[in-house]
Amino acid sequence: MKYSLFTELKSREVIDLFRSVFSESEGEAEGQVISDFVSSLLATTKPQDLIGCIAEENERVVGCVFFSRFTVPSGQAAFILSPVAVSTEVQGSGIGKELIGYGLDHLRSQDVNLAFTYGDPTYYSKMGFKQISENIVNAPFPLSQPIGWLAQSLDGQEIQAMAGPTQCVDALNDPGLW
Ligand SMILES: CC(C)(COP(=O)(O)OP(=O)(O)OC[C@H]1O[C@@H](n2cnc3c(N)ncnc32)[C@H](O)[C@@H]1OP(=O)(O)O)[C@@H](O)C(=O)NCCC(=O)NCCS
Repeated sequence: MKYSLFTELKSREVIDLFRSVFSESEGEAEGQVISDFVSSLLATTKPQDLIGCIAEENERVVGCVFFSRFTVPSGQAAFILSPVAVSTEVQGSGIGKELIGYGLDHLRSQDVNLAFTYGDPTYYSKMGFKQISENIVNAPFPLSQPIGWLAQSLDGQEIQAMAGPTQCVDALNDPGLW
């Protein structure tokens, strides 16, 4: 498996990957929602605010994860992971875990202090994410599933409580996604 940073040349392949993976796991409507979300992320996010990583096997993209800039009141550098997908036929073989690990290592190399995500705590805890209270860091919108608000420090410092609002990129700036 080859892991590398996403480039625009892979846009179509990656959008199709998200559509097919989510269509198969959660139905066609969700596949469309997620592929529209990824299209919007690619079209509206400044290059310095978006980091994508891909997994390729035999020149074919079989996994992709995006991290977008997340502005926190402490002023620390932070990114939020969303979304991630691994091709249905190769799920459960460790690719998701390695791909996210590759992305987190890249964020560390860019001196990013904090990584967030909003999802299944059982899955993301395997990549170092822990549940975080909104008393420590606010989510940008009221959370439908507060149990899924997750974060990890990338610089070895404990995450300090920080009062004030947080801000995600435009594509994620939709209360329906939270
Ligand atoms: C979720 C997803 C990205 C995981 O990728 P993957 O390559 O199948 O996962 P891995 O093989 O790396 O699994 C890593 C670990 O997580 C576990 N795991 C995998 N999928 C899981 C899930 N949906 N829930 C809980 N745990 C899960 C595995 O058992 C494994 O545990 P281990 O390290 O203790 O053995 C992939 O299954 C997928 O694309 N699913 C559909 C889309 C989706 O739900 N994306 C996430 C929301 S944005």
